[in-house]
Amino acid sequence: MILVTGGAGFIGANFVLDWLATQDEPVLNLDALTYAGNLENLAALAGDDRHHFVHGDICDRTLVDRLLAEHRPRAIVHFAAESHVDRSIHGPGAFVRTNVEGTFTLLEAARAWWGSLGVEEAAAFRFLHVSTDEVYGSLGPNDPAFAETKAYEPNSPYSASKAASDHLVRAWHHTYGLPVLTTNCSNNYGPYQFPEKLIPLTIANALAGRPLPIYGDGRNVRDWLYVGDHCSAVREVLARGGVGETYNVGGWNEQPNIDIVNIICGLLDELRPDPAGPYARLITFVKDRPGHDRRYAIDARKIERELGWRPAETFASGIRRTVQWYLENQGWVENVQSGAYRAWLERNYASR
Ligand code: NAD
Ligand code: TYD
Repeated sequence: MILVTGGAGFIGANFVLDWLATQDEPVLNLDALTYAGNLENLAALAGDDRHHFVHGDICDRTLVDRLLAEHRPRAIVHFAAESHVDRSIHGPGAFVRTNVEGTFTLLEAARAWWGSLGVEEAAAFRFLHVSTDEVYGSLGPNDPAFAETKAYEPNSPYSASKAASDHLVRAWHHTYGLPVLTTNCSNNYGPYQFPEKLIPLTIANALAGRPLPIYGDGRNVRDWLYVGDHCSAVREVLARGGVGETYNVGGWNEQPNIDIVNIICGLLDELRPDPAGPYARLITFVKDRPGHDRRYAIDARKIERELGWRPAETFASGIRRTVQWYLENQGWVENVQSGAYRAWLERNYASR
């Protein structure tokens, strides 16, 4: 049994689905079902007794202690977080609470649990913390990609809260010996991503004939990785990563936002042509995000050298799969576009 936190969100749900598709070890899935958590993502597991879902908060120490004692997981894979930079600008409190306090609570519960184990079980136990490349800050056009040795320079409330959680994880290893692993991954895309992030927002808006908002000049660069590749990297690190080590995970795929949006428009023109004209006609430049990091790029040589991991999807194959998934699952998008979600869209884009 492994304990997964945040397993009803975008990456966590993909991880749980992939895990149970490739092995029989059960998953205990702890998720608070915030706006980003959606049990529909896990509908394929209905009736599967290898999946145990618990609706609860990682900040609830009593609950986490009870789950560890009752289910005796051999590892914790920690995805739960507030994850959207724009939301962190409008309301940073939830980010400090879940990302910092929540990780602290999990670490303390894990430390107590791990301390109570026998020698063999304690040696095999792992706490895998899933983090982001955004903790490293912003790169200039000619700077080398982020290596694991790069100094932390977080610029948004989101990245600062993730950086804080990474530091806690590191300290719990160095001070208490907790057997931790950390992954710092670049931007993910793929099925079940909430349509507030660039790629699913672009697909959903294009299909609805709405503007495709591009912040600033559209030349900000991200390093995009297909979510299934992120999940395989996490599985590799969990299985064979060095205790106390961190691994950067990326797609070797740096692209400016405007190119991403144009590629999606081109795929939609091919797969679902709009009689009104090419989807790129909907591209609209809007006011930039405050403190918008210019460029992220991941140097993923360590995970390749030490664990033999490389992404399986190219961007061309991954984005095609993703656009096709959204076309085939428009009901999923409609269901997440609840009243609360519409209110968020109005708030974020009204003043742009
Ligand atoms: P997401 O926002 O889609 O999902 C987060 C999940 O965590 C949701 O199911 C939500 O209900 C749950 N959650 C939030 N607060 C909780 C709490 N207090 N207790 C229990 N559950 C809670 O996020 P995601 O995009 O799937 O990201 C997952 C992890 O991966 C995060 O830690 C994020 O920082 C990291 N990450 C994301 C990306 C990316 O591109 N999305 C890239 C690198 C790293
Ligand atoms: P996002 O998907 O929010 O991920 P992150 O900020 O964590 O990298 O944004 C990806 C890039 O796309 C980022 O440079 C901001 C930009 N962006 C837009 O241009 N328009 C949008 O409506 C959104 C949501 C993002």
